[in-house]
Amino acid sequence: MNKVTSSAPGKLMIVGEHAVVHGKPCIVTAVNQRLGATLELLDKPVLEVEAPEVDIHDYSRPLTEIGQGEMPKGTRFIEVVVKLFLQAYPQQQGLRVTTQSQFQSTFGFGSSSATVAALVVGLAKIYEVSLSEKELFDLGFKAILEIQGVGSGFDLAAAIYGGALYFVTPGKTIEPVETSFQLVVGYTGVKADTSTLVRMVNDKLAHNPEEINAIFEDIGKLVEEFRQALSAGDFATMGRLMNTNQEYLEKLGVSSPLLDSLIQAARQAGALGAKLSGAGGGDCMIALVESDKTAAVKEAISKAGGQIMEVEIGAHGAKIQ
Ligand code: MEV
Repeated sequence: MNKVTSSAPGKLMIVGEHAVVHGKPCIVTAVNQRLGATLELLDKPVLEVEAPEVDIHDYSRPLTEIGQGEMPKGTRFIEVVVKLFLQAYPQQQGLRVTTQSQFQSTFGFGSSSATVAALVVGLAKIYEVSLSEKELFDLGFKAILEIQGVGSGFDLAAAIYGGALYFVTPGKTIEPVETSFQLVVGYTGVKADTSTLVRMVNDKLAHNPEEINAIFEDIGKLVEEFRQALSAGDFATMGRLMNTNQEYLEKLGVSSPLLDSLIQAARQAGALGAKLSGAGGGDCMIALVESDKTAAVKEAISKAGGQIMEVEIGAHGAKIQ
């Protein structure tokens, strides 16, 4: 096989962000916006990249140099994933990678983790290396840590496994959970930088370990309760727990006035619960809704200045097309 096309989904954090970086569980879902990657074998030992959505055209680098030193932002994840794969499974032939994105990276749906997931799946297929989902995850997570330095890997797990997951870093537990709920997603229009927010929480933890660790503990317990409520189909409890999770995130200092007002608007319009989703500081908020309230909640979020993102949860994990 000389050419394969793979794709992987974006993600939305449901409950447990930040605490998950510090060993507590979280619940995440894959969403139906996908990143596609076409991989073609080359006779020469180079990596070529075409990634129009991040302005990369006609990029070419010898395999012996990839993933090192200065790299354009748009090729970093691709170079490091290919480098780590070839270190683990050496190959003679080079590679051309072309990406096609269905989602804008600014929305915080996890374009980097989807890129990594689509690539590891594509690489295993084209170079005929048989890897389990966990092995694909471990390889991809190594690449993410090499580039970002911080992160739990929850987004990569969602991109590889798909569906909705109960996740403990660094892939210690990855278990599917129900996706029988409905979310409304509101985007703030503000791009947040996850690494900066994770480091900010780390600083708070260093200065005030007792208080911050207690918050992480509480979030961890809340995620366990949320998981039980989810399997019992108890949406009222899930909504209440999302509201409580938002209070903890506010205490961590990662919410923002705009997130707060979109969340408030959703609750007032009848959402069962609402919270920020992800690192905070901007990006998205989510509201748990029953069908008859969906339209009113969407309208309220829009009126409060949010942009409604139409996404479906529980999307397929990374796959070969
Ligand atoms: C960011 O979307 C979620 C965080 O928990 C970071 C992570 O888990 O990698 C803040």
